[in-house]
Amino acid sequence: MRAVVIRTFGDADGLEVVEVPAPVPGPGQVGIAVAAIGVGGVDAVIRRGQLAAYGFREGHLLGSEVAGTVTSVGAGVDASWTGRRVWAFTGLSGGYAERAVAAVEDVLALPEGLTCADAVTLGGSGPVAHFALERARFAPGESVLVRGAAGSIGVTAVQLAARGGAGAVVVTTASAERGDRLRDLGATHVLDRSGGGGGPDAPSGFDVVIDVVGGPRLPYFLDRLNANGRFVAVGVVGGQPPADFGTRLLAAFRKSLSFATFSSDSVPGPERRAVRSAQFAEAARGVLRTVVHEVLPLGEAVSAHRRMDTGEVFGRIVLTP
Ligand SMILES: NC(=O)c1ccc[n+]([C@@H]2O[C@H](COP(=O)([O-])OP(=O)(O)OC[C@H]3O[C@@H](n4cnc5c(N)ncnc54)[C@H](OP(=O)(O)O)[C@@H]3O)[C@@H](O)[C@H]2O)c1
Repeated sequence: MRAVVIRTFGDADGLEVVEVPAPVPGPGQVGIAVAAIGVGGVDAVIRRGQLAAYGFREGHLLGSEVAGTVTSVGAGVDASWTGRRVWAFTGLSGGYAERAVAAVEDVLALPEGLTCADAVTLGGSGPVAHFALERARFAPGESVLVRGAAGSIGVTAVQLAARGGAGAVVVTTASAERGDRLRDLGATHVLDRSGGGGGPDAPSGFDVVIDVVGGPRLPYFLDRLNANGRFVAVGVVGGQPPADFGTRLLAAFRKSLSFATFSSDSVPGPERRAVRSAQFAEAARGVLRTVVHEVLPLGEAVSAHRRMDTGEVFGRIVLTP
């Protein structure tokens, strides 16, 4: 089968299409004929070699999120999975390929009306948005800032905050055009990446911040929490924050602020599955919108990664074998 591996760590040109043997599902796994592959930020991080210390080597077959049709099952798996359209988490490898395998507990059947491309924009990131808002104890009427809202986590967080009755849904993004697209998803105010702009009626403080960005600017946004505000860090696409950012929390002691990290790895599998399943059903009904930036053939993985690197992706880019 055709697959995309990292020939050399570094920029997108280091990716290469190769022929490799198709994987065979082991005990507890299903085999999938892949129809859509979600291209995530973590794939770019692995491609650059930034996770080499965690055992990722050149030659690695990228990809963690696919959708397609189950073609075979391993020992101990109900044969009725065969022929079903599914979404699957493949771990941190094996997704950029014509065929993939996944543990059956990481596989979810797709409802009618949900395309494979839609599924790989929502399956991984949608639950993160849900649980991050839950972790932030978001309540109707509160003002919410989604920092880094134009990514796959952000576009869902914006929609969930808006329909959850937020008093304001404020976003940061890099351009007015991206801001308009976020307004279309429910944002009420658009800030630039540094937190400026937003207009005269933009809230000056936030009850909840869902932060995908981190980076050197994080303390500025901590300072903009209202009294009893909750800041939940879900990603670091802008790099690590300054090491002493916690001193801002202590300096604002009398505001009773909270800072939390959130990883969906800390949520029990059945809970994640239930939320993913509900979100898939909502997306199939059009109640929750998926945002596919572009669908490219698997052989254009280099272009897909270049688009990610230049920051032009809005939502998620999808590859199809
Ligand atoms: N917590 C979890 O369980 C979990 C699960 C999966 C992934 N993650 C993490 O979530 C992140 C990826 O999420 P995603 O796919 O939604 O993000 P993404 O698409 O990679 O980025 C989100 C947005 O952030 C903005 N951005 C990028 N670089 C920035 C910078 N240097 N400064 C300010 N803004 C910047 C960009 O929008 P603009 O250009 O419009 O500003 C981008 O569209 C990664 O850090 C990943 O490790 C966390």
